[in-house]
Amino acid sequence: MAPSPNRHPLAAVVLAAGKGTRMKSATAKVLHELSGRPLAWFPVRAALDAGASPVVVVVGHQAEAVEAALRAALPRAPLRFAHQAEQRGTAHAVLAARGALRGVDGAIAILSGDTPLLSSTTLKRVVQARSRSRAPLSFATMNLAEPRGYGRLVRDQDGRPARIVEEKDATPAERVIGEVNAGLYCADAEFLWKALAKVGSDNAQGEFYLTDLVAMAARRSPAVAVEVEPLEASGVNDREELARAGQVLQRRRASALMKAGVTLEDPARFLCDEGVEIAADVIIEPGVRLRGATRIGPRCRIGQGSVLVDAVLAAGVTVRPYTVIDGPATVGAQAVLGPFSRVRPGTELGEGVHLGNFVETKKARLGKGSKANHLAYLGDAVIGAGVNIGCGTITCNYDGEKKHETRIGDGAFIGSDSILVAPVEIGAGAYVAAGSTVTDPVPAGALALGRARQVNKEGWAVRLAAARTARRASERT
Ligand code: UD1
Ligand code: MG
Repeated sequence: MAPSPNRHPLAAVVLAAGKGTRMKSATAKVLHELSGRPLAWFPVRAALDAGASPVVVVVGHQAEAVEAALRAALPRAPLRFAHQAEQRGTAHAVLAARGALRGVDGAIAILSGDTPLLSSTTLKRVVQARSRSRAPLSFATMNLAEPRGYGRLVRDQDGRPARIVEEKDATPAERVIGEVNAGLYCADAEFLWKALAKVGSDNAQGEFYLTDLVAMAARRSPAVAVEVEPLEASGVNDREELARAGQVLQRRRASALMKAGVTLEDPARFLCDEGVEIAADVIIEPGVRLRGATRIGPRCRIGQGSVLVDAVLAAGVTVRPYTVIDGPATVGAQAVLGPFSRVRPGTELGEGVHLGNFVETKKARLGKGSKANHLAYLGDAVIGAGVNIGCGTITCNYDGEKKHETRIGDGAFIGSDSILVAPVEIGAGAYVAAGSTVTDPVPAGALALGRARQVNKEGWAVRLAAARTARRASERT
């Protein structure tokens, strides 16, 4: 955890109780995902990165699901959850967090759960502006040519923040103001609770407005307005804004990766979850998607259209186009996969393994240098080093009730189109003849032939042709 940037301890409240009506969704807005994380994860992460502890998330709509998603994504973070049963306004929401913040007497940052682009640097600026000026409150503002929908900042004759007026309560003259409230605050704890107790709901929406705090501070010592980049404070309210925020996040990620030595052949067509790690000198072709806990070692190449979920790749792995890894799966150094390989959970591929087109693995371990280059299914299999799996090989792991294991020793050679009926073991260095159905163990060094012996019927085709010719002649007469 990053240490607190200022001497005073910092706590944070993230407001995430709202429904998000404009998403037109059965799922609460803050649960919609960007880069593999729920929307609310981003402001929570920014607060944690700015050194806030605890971070109290105010939940209401689908509270249990929001809490579960955040706890799963941040298992060790100092998170607390506060319930706001009825959404009666932003001041009411912060008040719901009061119990969870008992004993906190420093600064309290307040963030919106739907602002995924906010950086911890910007949050720290707002926090520090307050502590430096010793004002009871600081808040972020932005200057917009089109301020519609936002609360406008009204300044006094000396230019100090006097109050924020919500659009619905604003006079025509106030609506022209382009300096708006970005919805990010930092307050002194004592001031915050005293002021919130006095906030009323006598306004156009009948809600308890957190923004009333600016006018309340002005009576003591004016709040400090900190201008921020509009992009950072922009909220997600509908699906278009969700998509736009996603693009910004991906652009930021792509640029950070390129600075760190990763080649992205087409940065605009690359999707990468938060938490994915990519080493230097990795080359990523267009249309790749990297998800979950994927880690890619140095000098790997990830082919066009590949999707990797929870995949851990050692150095120098080549993933050819349109390969799908659905992990957890590990891939050893210098392995070559694809095109069109499908690697499923529990696969462990050793150094230099080759998996070719239309090869599917599940819960399969392949030792160093083993190869399955075409059309195979390897499930529940323990395969040694230097094994060759011929085209069309299938491990029959399922008997309709249970899964069984296939074991293949080092250096074995499995001929094409072999059916290995598990449980079965093939010894080291053994050969399985092409087209065999193997139901019994094969000793090390043996050859297994599990197919009908070939019979040649001399002259059979010639006799057939003669019979057909004779039949056609008799039909004509
Ligand atoms: C708010 C500000 C406005 C500012 C804008 C910036 C107020 C009164 N207005 O308006 O000045 O320009 O943000 O985006 O604060 N929430 C709860 N419980 C509630 C109400 C809201 O948890 O009872 C949460 C929402 O889920 C959301 C956040 O608080 O994450 C902001 O609420 P929202 O209703 O979007 O406020 P705005 O009308 O956008
Ligand atoms: Mg809003």
